[in-house]
Amino acid sequence: MANGRSIRHTAMLSSDASSGSEFFIGASSSLTALLRDAARVAPTDATVVITGESGTGKSLLARWIHEHSRRAVGPFVVIDCGALPESLLEAELFGFERGAFTGAATAKAGRFEGAQQGTLVLDEVAALSLAAQAKLLRALEERRVMRLGGTRAVTLDVRFVAVTNTDLAAAVKRQAFRADLFHRLNTIALEVPPLRARPGDIAPLARHFVTRAAQRNGLPCPKLAPETLAFLEQYDFPGNARELMHAMDYATLTAAGAVIYREHLPARMTAATALMQHPTRKPTLAELEAAYIREILQQVAWRKVEAARILGISRKNLYEKLRAYGIPYRPPSQDANGDASP
Ligand SMILES: Nc1ncnc2c1ncn2[C@@H]1O[C@H](COP(=O)(O)OP(=O)(O)OP(=O)(O)O)[C@@H](O)[C@H]1O
Ligand SMILES: [Mg+2]
Repeated sequence: MANGRSIRHTAMLSSDASSGSEFFIGASSSLTALLRDAARVAPTDATVVITGESGTGKSLLARWIHEHSRRAVGPFVVIDCGALPESLLEAELFGFERGAFTGAATAKAGRFEGAQQGTLVLDEVAALSLAAQAKLLRALEERRVMRLGGTRAVTLDVRFVAVTNTDLAAAVKRQAFRADLFHRLNTIALEVPPLRARPGDIAPLARHFVTRAAQRNGLPCPKLAPETLAFLEQYDFPGNARELMHAMDYATLTAAGAVIYREHLPARMTAATALMQHPTRKPTLAELEAAYIREILQQVAWRKVEAARILGISRKNLYEKLRAYGIPYRPPSQDANGDASP
């Protein structure tokens, strides 16, 4: 998967590493197309809405757009709309003048003003109440805001990016989201596809996350065994890139600089029960058996006699199954010779 094309693509479309920003990794045609669209709109001031499941990379894309815009030197302000209590929202967004309400001892600029000449990200915009949506719409349309208790409107020079993992059109139908705000935001919509829909991104992303985890922990960078990549490429990733990142952080630590085998992945990904819960792809009996044997081996620290007893088979039979399924005879973490084959 780490072919020349994906590397070139990454280098071309990723943010500048020297600025400390993160790389946007991807080799699949859908991610390439998405970044091409993003690159087209980034330099403009158009309002963009980014949709996609949780953990797909929406927040990263919002930052990428900022960094590839003429506002890159300006502020990048993220408002987590879901985390702001309704009572604080207005003061937070619009700011207030001294004495605007009890407790307003000094004047304070709002987040809108704080984003002047920069980009303002409205994260989880669907969490805003209908009343807050109305205020946001007015700010978007007039491009002016007034602090609470203020008398002077401030003209906004801000680029808006709205982010949501809620289907906004469906929320409009449910009357949970204002139709006029939806149309105002939805001029340019970028959808980040779920990771399972772009398996070509899994290997380059996994390598990227492993390299980063090893660097951060001062470990030599482990290799990913082919069996591990094969497993990851067929895995469903309900948590998308974030789940892959956490799995690679975990595996990098458990493999401690050697080779990352399937055994180093979090058990909740590889367990037989996890395979059975795959929403679209039902495991075969052999896959289930192999996963269960691995699970038991892990539980008993690879003591074969104990594993055979739990599995209700002879030791000889267990060895036959290990051979048949390509399961290592020893715990892979002891295998520190850098050989990526089990
Ligand atoms: N293509 C990618 N390249 C590199 N890192 C990625 C990529 N996609 C996602 N990540 C990383 O995965 C993690 C999750 O991504 P992000 O926070 O952008 O997801 P999200 O869609 O905003 O999730 P949520 O809906 O939960 O807010 C982040 O640490 C991000 O840097
Ligand atoms: Mg996010």
